Amino acid sequence: MRDWWKKAVIYQVYPRSFKDSDGDGFGDLNGILQKLDYLAELGVDAIWLSPVYQSPQKDNGYDISDYRMIDPKFGTNEDMFHLIKEAHIRKIKVIMDLVVNHTSDQHQWFQESRKAKDNPYRDYYFWRDPKTDGSEPNNWGSYFSGSAWTLDQQTGQYYLHYFAKEQPDLNWENEEVRQQVYRIMRFWMDKGVDGWRMDVIGGISKFLDFPDYPATGDQRYVLGKWHANGPRLHEFIQEMNREVLSQYPCMTVGEANGSDIDAAKKYTDPRRKELNMIFSFAHMSVDIQQGTPAGKWALRPFQLVRLKKVLAKWQEALADHGWNTLYFENHDQGRVISRFGNDTTYRVPCAKAFATILHGLKGTPFIYQGEEIGMVNCHYDLKDYNDLEIHNAYNELVIENKVLSKEAFRHAVERIGRDNARTPMQWNKNKQAGFSDGQSWLKVNPRYKEINVEQALQDTDSIFYYYKQLIQLRHSLDIFTEGDFQLFLPDDPQLFVYTRTTNTEALLILANISEEPAVYSGMEGEWHLLLSNLPGTADTPSKQQLRPYEAAIYLQRKPTILRHNY
Ligand code: NOJ
Repeated sequence: MRDWWKKAVIYQVYPRSFKDSDGDGFGDLNGILQKLDYLAELGVDAIWLSPVYQSPQKDNGYDISDYRMIDPKFGTNEDMFHLIKEAHIRKIKVIMDLVVNHTSDQHQWFQESRKAKDNPYRDYYFWRDPKTDGSEPNNWGSYFSGSAWTLDQQTGQYYLHYFAKEQPDLNWENEEVRQQVYRIMRFWMDKGVDGWRMDVIGGISKFLDFPDYPATGDQRYVLGKWHANGPRLHEFIQEMNREVLSQYPCMTVGEANGSDIDAAKKYTDPRRKELNMIFSFAHMSVDIQQGTPAGKWALRPFQLVRLKKVLAKWQEALADHGWNTLYFENHDQGRVISRFGNDTTYRVPCAKAFATILHGLKGTPFIYQGEEIGMVNCHYDLKDYNDLEIHNAYNELVIENKVLSKEAFRHAVERIGRDNARTPMQWNKNKQAGFSDGQSWLKVNPRYKEINVEQALQDTDSIFYYYKQLIQLRHSLDIFTEGDFQLFLPDDPQLFVYTRTTNTEALLILANISEEPAVYSGMEGEWHLLLSNLPGTADTPSKQQLRPYEAAIYLQRKPTILRHNY
């Protein structure tokens, strides 16, 4: 089936933190191979691997120096081919990460490009002269702090990098660059890769006049709308679709930074022949204050109402032509229960409740490694974090610009810092959580003795088995894929209630996302309980009190008009 991804549940593996097979403290492909049966037991349809290509690892593999080679830290190309084969034997598809907004500065293209202005590879990247006072060509900031431009002494020009200075941006205006990318994609798909997650795909087309952002206060470098959705973005993606994607039965998901609903419709409307779906960020920004100099590190309290409204807006907007991804976690986000919920007293019901509200929606769910066992954020000394984003932001916001106190920054890191998701996968309660026989590259979360896979597999009531049931439900009932979405009680601060309906059936998804009991007024009609996360949940959604983080899914055959009691 060409649209297999609509019914699928996808599992993201962050290879360096998943399983180390050779004791160097760094996860690898053979480690993933060892755990394929675990993933098959969970029931996922595909795995998406964060980058495993050759890389200096300045940004954990999102800085690629050779797209056709597996980094020796992860294994060999043969290991990758073997992993694909073994995954396919278990009916698990393999999605790779396509990081082509930028390369590593160690990539041969950039090494050539920086040599001379007339080098044949010069135009693979963006080079611009300094302003007359010697400063950067404009005031664009890098996502990892500082300017998006770095001066290269050799030729006296600046090159553009939206991320670290070791990640120069590729020039997609150059036809040769695009053809190089297409060849890389064919190379891996000919080896059996089933699809792509496309890193910062929203950034590949640039506003070539590179306009300054309007100066705001004393901010020297600014991030904003010109970092994404450039004028040729959809043209480039359509070309990629024509030349490559349409030739393979593959799946695509774009990490669409800076996309609003209109952009999302463009990317995912099948009539436009671009991508199958995108990762948008709106729902992951509900606890972030917009428009402050502290950027993503300016937090505000989580409010369920905001989350419901954003999710509902996207459900409605992409209902007919287009498709949503469903995610709360990935390698760039904190753990959802630590961030939006409760990771102590209510850790287990809370994890199941968030899973319920997400997997009940229309779209393709993505599970991030460890989410299925309720892994939680870590609380480390700043020096123990590895992520360059955290360290750069600390220097810029706390030390240089003093827009955040050290305490406020630390607090933000503990909530949304990327390393929260990158701590090693917790397999058992042995040393290093069973992740490695050596010293892991990032400290293991100290709660591993309580939270680990071995424990989860032994407990039939665990978060793991709850995810397994959710996946089975999605596989067995088409209404999860097809049903229309409708939100109820949008302003209720505790309850998340929505329905999914077809002509013949209805689902009611109901959750109390709070630490207090919540009064639910009930929904009329004849319902059957399909799944719930606490013992003793009512058989029908009648007027009742829902316990903290109680969640349930009800099914109705031959639905009548869905009406709430009030
Ligand atoms: C988005 C990736 O998810 C993130 O981890 C990475 O740092 C940036 N893109 C740059 O590639």
